[in-house]
Amino acid sequence: MTFPGLLKQLCETALNTAFPGKTAEIAPEFLEITEATQEKYGHYQFNGAMKLSKLLHENPRSIAEKLMSALNTLAATNAFIAKMEIAGPGFINFTLDPTFIAKTLAEQLHDPYLGVEKPAKPLKVIIDFSSPNIAKEMHVGHLRSTIIGDSLRKILTFMGHEVLPLNHIGDWGTQFGMLIAHIKTVFPEIAQANPPDVALGTLVSWYKASKKRFDEDPIFKKSAQQEVVALQQGEENSKRIWEHICAISRKAYQTIYDLLEVQLIERGESFYNPLLKPLVDELEKSGVLTISDGAKCIYLEGFTNREGEKLPMILQKTDGGYNYATTDLAALRHRVQIEKADWIIIVTDAGQSLHFQMLFEAARKLAFYDPARVRINHVPFGLVLNSDGKKIKTRSGESERLIDLLQTAIEQAQQKLLEHNPSYPPEAIGEAAHILGLNAVKYSDLSCHRASDYIFSYEKMLKFEGNTAAFLLYAYVRIQSIQRKANLDITDLLGHPTSIVLEDPAEISLGLLVCQFRTVIEQCAKELLPNRLADYLYRLAEKFHLFFHHCRVEGSSKQNSRLLLCEAVAQVLHQGMRLLGLQPLDKM
Ligand code: ARG
Repeated sequence: MTFPGLLKQLCETALNTAFPGKTAEIAPEFLEITEATQEKYGHYQFNGAMKLSKLLHENPRSIAEKLMSALNTLAATNAFIAKMEIAGPGFINFTLDPTFIAKTLAEQLHDPYLGVEKPAKPLKVIIDFSSPNIAKEMHVGHLRSTIIGDSLRKILTFMGHEVLPLNHIGDWGTQFGMLIAHIKTVFPEIAQANPPDVALGTLVSWYKASKKRFDEDPIFKKSAQQEVVALQQGEENSKRIWEHICAISRKAYQTIYDLLEVQLIERGESFYNPLLKPLVDELEKSGVLTISDGAKCIYLEGFTNREGEKLPMILQKTDGGYNYATTDLAALRHRVQIEKADWIIIVTDAGQSLHFQMLFEAARKLAFYDPARVRINHVPFGLVLNSDGKKIKTRSGESERLIDLLQTAIEQAQQKLLEHNPSYPPEAIGEAAHILGLNAVKYSDLSCHRASDYIFSYEKMLKFEGNTAAFLLYAYVRIQSIQRKANLDITDLLGHPTSIVLEDPAEISLGLLVCQFRTVIEQCAKELLPNRLADYLYRLAEKFHLFFHHCRVEGSSKQNSRLLLCEAVAQVLHQGMRLLGLQPLDKM
């Protein structure tokens, strides 16, 4: 159990003793336990007395006093808590017993899940992330979605949930009509069974050219529209070309996924296409659609434009075509009713927030899901900016290709490693630079609150000091070298029931932080914020250095206990980095 969870239980029991018969009305949030704001106040704080005051018609300080006397009568209190103190208007400050922390730490050391408890019933979670669009380059927004989504996937999987990572790629729509019509004229070879290789860049340029022709040339427009019909009807030739177009794009995305070591299951928009017509027909029959200017729409309470007019969610356009929203509505229903998801998470840029709010509200209104049973979250994120605070662009004004961005990070990581250590072994530097470069890109993204924009800077993300990937890697590497120096087999040490003794304040504080891993993982999942984990790992690395500065490990009388403490830190750093999608290094 987490420390706050434990304290909460204690307080609940004590409240029953202190205020018999009155606790039925006490809401769980009254029992909130928070971390102490400063170590001098102890480890945790109970600040519910103020909230309880109204309910119990008593002043907060006297509530805190009664609660504390009741706590003192509990055996568990004596086992877990070294010190309790009332502060200010009625806070109770708790300092945990170092022996209890050490015991928890020892248990965590032997637990592959590092104290994180399995859920009573694992949830089936669908995470929709990455999701680039065919015939377009992946942009930094897709990079963010990929990095954030993958981390959430790893965290929830680690917690014991069953996660289905879906790549909802944009592989369907009327734009394919003009693209196919255009390619047929400029590259007829595409219709062959095995057409020559085409780069994504070429495909993108065809896409742009086809759009231009569509807008300017009525004859081309006509043939593009015919292509849409042919594709919809599953005409062999059109379908083959469409498949080739998808394959070209897929290959380019795969290079990026391989570099980032991200695995996804492709479930693009085309998958849901057969569901769209039946869905709209069904909704039309049940009378929930409104025809507005020939388009079939749903109107939802509470969604208006600036003029106060109701916003429509358009499910079928005047020309008969379906929308992004139509596919998403069908997808949501499929995920709940067919996939039996308990939790759906969709990771996209914050620009799509309104779309998802409307989507979820529509699905709720149509009773496609039961909000009491299924949790649905849009996980929005901010922009990636360059140092001028503008969107990242190349010199020629094109948006920067992801693959170039990642490659540059790797090159710069190599320079940085050489600056740091001019005699870096040449045989190892390539791999280290690869790991450091990609870790740096991922970490600089995940370490900031996802809702805010952040500035992409190779210089900053590759620093060895501060809240960076290199700083975490370095802390982990340092522990490896301490262990090597001590010349003791850690597995041996772990095999013997060596007790960990926490005495020095730096030891206690580090031990406590290591045990808080489970709390942080819970928080991450609750708020879907990987930066909570990043912040925690950064604090852990800092605290580890502080400990190492204060407490001798090698050759001290407490060597074995301290080596185990170091090992516990290493385990958490290692697992924590993995959950952020980072790869640890043993040497640097
Ligand atoms: N393809 C979309 C884009 O590039 C993202 C799709 C996100 N997922 C979804 N179910 N709408 O912005």
